[in-house]
Amino acid sequence: MKVLITGAAGFIGSTLVATLRNDYDVRAIDNFSVGHVRRIGDITVEEMDVTQLEHVEEMVCGRDVVVHLAGYTGIPACENDPEGAARNILVGTKYITEASVRAGVKQLLFSSSFAVYGDAPTHVSECSPVAPIGMYGNLRAASEYVLLAARHLDGLNTLIFRQTNVYGKGVTTKRTVVNLLSEQVLKREAITVYGTGEQVRNFVHVLDTVRAYKLAIERGSGGLYNLGSAETLSVNDIVRTVNDASYHLLGYQVPVEHKPDRGAGKREIASTELVLDVRKVQRELGWTAEHTVRGTVEQMLAAPATAGAR
Ligand SMILES: NC(=O)c1ccc[n+]([C@@H]2O[C@H](COP(=O)([O-])OP(=O)(O)OC[C@H]3O[C@@H](n4cnc5c(N)ncnc54)[C@H](O)[C@@H]3O)[C@@H](O)[C@H]2O)c1
Repeated sequence: MKVLITGAAGFIGSTLVATLRNDYDVRAIDNFSVGHVRRIGDITVEEMDVTQLEHVEEMVCGRDVVVHLAGYTGIPACENDPEGAARNILVGTKYITEASVRAGVKQLLFSSSFAVYGDAPTHVSECSPVAPIGMYGNLRAASEYVLLAARHLDGLNTLIFRQTNVYGKGVTTKRTVVNLLSEQVLKREAITVYGTGEQVRNFVHVLDTVRAYKLAIERGSGGLYNLGSAETLSVNDIVRTVNDASYHLLGYQVPVEHKPDRGAGKREIASTELVLDVRKVQRELGWTAEHTVRGTVEQMLAAPATAGAR
């Protein structure tokens, strides 16, 4: 089976290429605006851009499965450059989706975000209202509608994962709150918490994330799934976890400083008591998260040389 992975030089993409490359004929593309992984095993990541229609037609041609991960990630990038973000996320997804229809692709998988729930109530299932707050969540939600339209109008088999905060180490790592706090502890720096630290997030390890994509491809699945773990933690919870693991493994803890809220998190999810319902992906794909934040933090503290952020 021939699989295209966009955003393949990035955090999730490079790890997905590494996971699929032995079982599938993988083509990997990225514009290297953020990701820098040029080669994964015997796979070379080709320099192509999902906002260039001619590139998109070429990359999708002959593929059975398309995994579309390319695009701006994160709140600040989308808030600071809304026009660029709209082109990058929404136009890019439209090009990929329409080219997939024209090329007769059998399955299109898309990395959406739990930020589409933005203002939703505490308990969030796939049936909860889509209520994004900031540009990032709005563009992810709009992109979902592009896929859903192709599903209904053109019969394209689409699968959407609404991912929570992806952390941990795959082929590369990312500057997530879990990684950043672990690095600060390793450097014996004081940890900075913005605002009260009571804002909560759900976490899913990158290796669990790519396993969900692999399962979905193996099964040829379509549909819409929350992709997260049972671990919904506040920033204060993570600080306690990191300091506690440090105390047991390294024999010290670091001080915690509080600074005024920078506001970015409020543009993602409003609720401070998020409970993410992941029963659908467990039931239908047989997927469940295997990694824990505590276990990952302990690995990072025990093996700092291999756990640094890019
Ligand atoms: N990491 C998370 O916590 C998380 C959570 C929810 C959703 N997502 C989504 O999952 C996807 C992958 O996330 P990630 O963490 O690996 O991000 P990432 O930034 O590490 O990877 C995205 C890759 O896309 C590439 N890219 C950007 N614009 C492009 C374009 N126009 N053409 C081709 N390549 C382009 C970048 O260079 C980068 O390598 C993103 O779409 C992201 O929004 C991520």
